[in-house]
Amino acid sequence: MNDQFSAEHSPRKLIIAIDGPAGAGKSTIASRLARKLGYINLESGAMYRALALQAIENDVSFDDETALLALAQKSRIQLEPTRDGNRTLLNGHDVSPRIRERDVTEAASRVSVHPAVRAWMVARQREMGEGGGIVMEGRDIGTKVFPDADLKIFLDADPVVREQRRMEQHKIKGEVAANLAADLRERDHRDRTRAASPLMAAEDAVVIDSTALDEAEVLAKVEALAAERLHP
Ligand code: DC
Repeated sequence: MNDQFSAEHSPRKLIIAIDGPAGAGKSTIASRLARKLGYINLESGAMYRALALQAIENDVSFDDETALLALAQKSRIQLEPTRDGNRTLLNGHDVSPRIRERDVTEAASRVSVHPAVRAWMVARQREMGEGGGIVMEGRDIGTKVFPDADLKIFLDADPVVREQRRMEQHKIKGEVAANLAADLRERDHRDRTRAASPLMAAEDAVVIDSTALDEAEVLAKVEALAAERLHP
């Protein structure tokens, strides 16, 4: 890390928002940037996933907004930043691997369409991040959670490339790969077209298209932007 970039030499503790669709590389970039800056990385999607798991376990319909809100209010959803991403605790239990499974992934996209659920999540996410020194990733961080964030990145990539990345990540092929691609497309569509806070770039977000960029190239761009904000 060069001196110019060093967060230690800056009194400012930035709020950095990274939004974008699934498979664009948000998680990797957010956690690597946070590590470099000595910031906390918060994956807001893990909170929707934890609520989705609660709904599955309590037999609550993904379409029942009132019941989902009540469930959220009585759940303890905690994100614990670690070197390799967030550990997610639900009522004190580590549910990190479980919430990445297919049924929860699909359910998370469905429970996140409800305005009351979103309002509850947004309030929690603001509490977690308001002190700054965070990189928060999700779908609505720059538009709704922190509309005054110091830096907003919208990380996008061609859908075919995002699907390929996901498959490589999960080392899968054949029929399972076809299912994953179909799931991702459906989730994408739902995230972008829902009425409440659809996935979109904030007006003042820097849009980075990672279709033809590797991880190091994206990280370099994001680091340069953070350095500008730290030492204007
Ligand atoms: O980022 P992720 O794949 O873990 O997110 C899971 C789901 O949660 C995703 O389908 C959309 C939703 N989500 C959201 O609506 N708003 C966020 N800030 C983060 C995630």
